[in-house]
Amino acid sequence: MPVSLLTVGRFVDFPVSGNVKHSYEGTSANSADLDVPRKTRRKGLIVAAKPVAKRLVVLVSGSGTNLQALLDAIETTGVEAYGAEIVAVGADRGGIEGLARAERAGLPTFVCRVKEYGARDEWDAALAEAVAAYEPDLVVSAGFMKIVGKEFLARFGGRFINTHPALLPSFPGAHGVRDALAYGARVTGCTVHFVDDGVDTGPIIAQGVVEIRDEDDESALHERIKEVERRLLVDVVGRLARNGYRIEGRKVVIQ
Ligand code: GRF
Repeated sequence: MPVSLLTVGRFVDFPVSGNVKHSYEGTSANSADLDVPRKTRRKGLIVAAKPVAKRLVVLVSGSGTNLQALLDAIETTGVEAYGAEIVAVGADRGGIEGLARAERAGLPTFVCRVKEYGARDEWDAALAEAVAAYEPDLVVSAGFMKIVGKEFLARFGGRFINTHPALLPSFPGAHGVRDALAYGARVTGCTVHFVDDGVDTGPIIAQGVVEIRDEDDESALHERIKEVERRLLVDVVGRLARNGYRIEGRKVVIQ
């Protein structure tokens, strides 16, 4: 069984049972007993324990094609082999195709609208509570067009990822595709990263590159980025779920 002794930074792994903590702050942590699949000693025999599929809550605001890519990959690969399952889908608005996709897949959904709360902090706490109800191991912002606040990050920091349609740190914010085009960049792409308290500033997990063509407009370029983005997100989420990971400063190490 591989043993990793981490001496710096923060160790983050998924729980293999309900009472294992998600993350460990400190100088040293031994992840051997969190490896998946685990082996369990029973009556003198070593038996392989079933890998535990990680629980994903996905947040959306729009068409939900990234959500669909995750749903399709999990269905095709199987929950166990992929390493994760989507347990709920949340949104900041109703009537979107992203929610319809979740409903067609038979998943529970919830909507948390900013305007229904007196203050942004209240919305943030309500969103955190709604997500927490599904006990996720990982929360995925897949085209979720809201910046979360302190309460959400206090609960899900280190296990909240976002996909952004540009090569961060270039072109953060709501118009990453438009801004890359306007700047005259020759390549752009997508970035899957952990969310911190800045706008698209958290540690980068993976990136995909897309060439910008002379004839591109925002919509054509975004469509080509999304093709790469969907594959990247499916790959990253699966690897995080199956292997576990740690975040060392700005560096993400998938084990
Ligand atoms: C993605 O390009 C995402 O990076 C951006 O919005 C798009 C969402 O697409 N924030 P979809 O809703 O998954 O189709």
